[in-house]
Amino acid sequence: MRTHYCGLIDESLVGQTVTLCGWVNKIRLQSHVAFVDLRDHEGLAQIVVEKDNAAAFATAGELGYEYCVRVTGTLRKRLAPNDKLRTGTVEVLADEVEILNAAKDLPFALHESPNEDLRMTYRYLDLRRPEMQVMIRKRIKLVQALRRYLDAHGFQDVETPILTKATPEGARDYLVPSRVHPGQFYALPQSPQLFKQLLMIAGFDRYYQIARCFRDEDLRADRQPEFTQLDLEFAFVDEKDIQDFTENLIRHVFKEVADVALAEPFPRMTWAEAMRRFGSDKPDLRIALELVDIADAVKHVEFKVFAEPANDPAGRVAALRVPGGSAYSRKDIEHLTEHVAKFGAKGLAWIKVEDPAKGREGVNSPIAKFLDDAALAAVLAATAAQAGDIVFIGAGKWKPITDSMGALRLKVAKDRGLVQASWKPLWVTDFPMFEFDEAEQRYVALHHPFTAPKIDDIANLKDHAATAVSRGYDMVLNGNEIGGGSIRIHHPDMQSAVFDLLGITPAEAELKFGFLLKALKFGAPPHGGLAFGIDRIAALIAGTESIRDVIAFPKTTSAQDLMTDAPSNVSEPQLKELHVMVRE
Ligand code: AMO
Ligand code: AMP
Repeated sequence: MRTHYCGLIDESLVGQTVTLCGWVNKIRLQSHVAFVDLRDHEGLAQIVVEKDNAAAFATAGELGYEYCVRVTGTLRKRLAPNDKLRTGTVEVLADEVEILNAAKDLPFALHESPNEDLRMTYRYLDLRRPEMQVMIRKRIKLVQALRRYLDAHGFQDVETPILTKATPEGARDYLVPSRVHPGQFYALPQSPQLFKQLLMIAGFDRYYQIARCFRDEDLRADRQPEFTQLDLEFAFVDEKDIQDFTENLIRHVFKEVADVALAEPFPRMTWAEAMRRFGSDKPDLRIALELVDIADAVKHVEFKVFAEPANDPAGRVAALRVPGGSAYSRKDIEHLTEHVAKFGAKGLAWIKVEDPAKGREGVNSPIAKFLDDAALAAVLAATAAQAGDIVFIGAGKWKPITDSMGALRLKVAKDRGLVQASWKPLWVTDFPMFEFDEAEQRYVALHHPFTAPKIDDIANLKDHAATAVSRGYDMVLNGNEIGGGSIRIHHPDMQSAVFDLLGITPAEAELKFGFLLKALKFGAPPHGGLAFGIDRIAALIAGTESIRDVIAFPKTTSAQDLMTDAPSNVSEPQLKELHVMVRE
């Protein structure tokens, strides 16, 4: 149908007859000539239609935005080149203009950024926008680069089932009713976790898959109900083997796809250190601000809000110094207090510093009166507060204080432009094995229940469950968890012991994971792996905040597809066939 792409014509073709196909990006009709900007996958070309060519000129008069058109004509140099356009030195003098398909009036102009619902309803039009094309193509390049690297390094690309049994990754399952087995359900995989472990037991040694995962969980900018992992598993390895390999992989693709040189090696930080210094298990190291523990400084004060958590092993009193923050108004501080409240903070104390050398006289703070001189001086010293700073203080239970002060750090850094333009990867290691779930009054696995503990001995693990550390690790980039993995349990007894600690009875373990426990009894090799969130990496490379921008057909934050109108009702006969009844 065509001889060239619109976006690729250049002066080497001057004098030649070319045929281009594409969409009408813009049209300017004058009395004797029409200019049409024609757009395709590669870019724009200017078409000139002269009145002398009566048929073509008449057709040009019928064109509207986004009409799909084919043009044949002679390529020539432009009299007035446009240096903003790749094809700006040339144009096509049309011989023939053919309308391949008309377009209705658009629901939004493609050069505007329409509202999210309209974009999602007309996603195929949204995707025509050049910035969307650029972002989706970055993702394509990323996946190509990942595959090339893994294929070259001897990894086996194996597909695993979509209709399967629940694998716990901490979210709800999407279920699929079975027609032939009344009352029974498949689960869509939250990840290929158990299959990749079974592939190691089966002797495939090194596996990868670009795997779709399904999780019914609360959605955010960095979470979709279906998303894509680069899933990896290795036999006969320890943490260092996996981390070294995957770090090289990521460094390689960032260089290739984004021309970004990431640090070598990535820094490593334990989970405990990350929580203490940054209030996050995925610290954004582009921000220089750090939390400081000041429990020692306020243990003895009468102000119970501080003294109680300072003396409670399960409490925390943490401070954050914000350089130049004394300029914050009462209103600004109120907003920040509301922000930390979302993460469970009961309040936010603050000290504005005018002159740290003057002690009490040199500060402005509603809580200074509750602190004696020594405590106040110790807080200022611990935070290294300077004139013009504000010191925020959170006090309470360890988890809400850590989460809320971590969130405060991110917010003030964003608001005040304190996020450096750079790339800061790191490994977070030494995660707790278990987390106590207050609501369910039992331990849950912080990673997943197949992650090996550092303690190799079952009795010892049972005695120290609350403080046990796992062999899990996350790769973090600029405050995003881009990948996570672990060394797995490969002894059936240890796997049973961990199930037991998680409150899974032997009968339940048999029912849900009997196949795994059985497989571990047939010479399972030591193994481990990791999965990357492709959508998140693609979003980082594309420079967008939302992974929806790098997914061709994403769901909304309420897990809907507005274009196809999914999910939707199904007919009564279909439900009946599936043995399903809808509850009111
Ligand atoms: P995990 O649950 O940490 O580990 O997932 C791995 C990576 O997948 C990405 N991710 C998501 N991306 C978009 N939307 C979501 N809802 C979503 N959930 C997770 C994150 C995350 O780091 N089976 C283990 C891996 C292993 O142990 O090998 C797993 O799935 O970037
Ligand atoms: P109150 O005695 O509750 O009026 O609190 C006095 C000051 O302490 C106020 O500035 C509160 O914002 C602050 N505050 C209250 N609870 C906390 C807390 N858990 N952590 C930090 N500051 C708090």
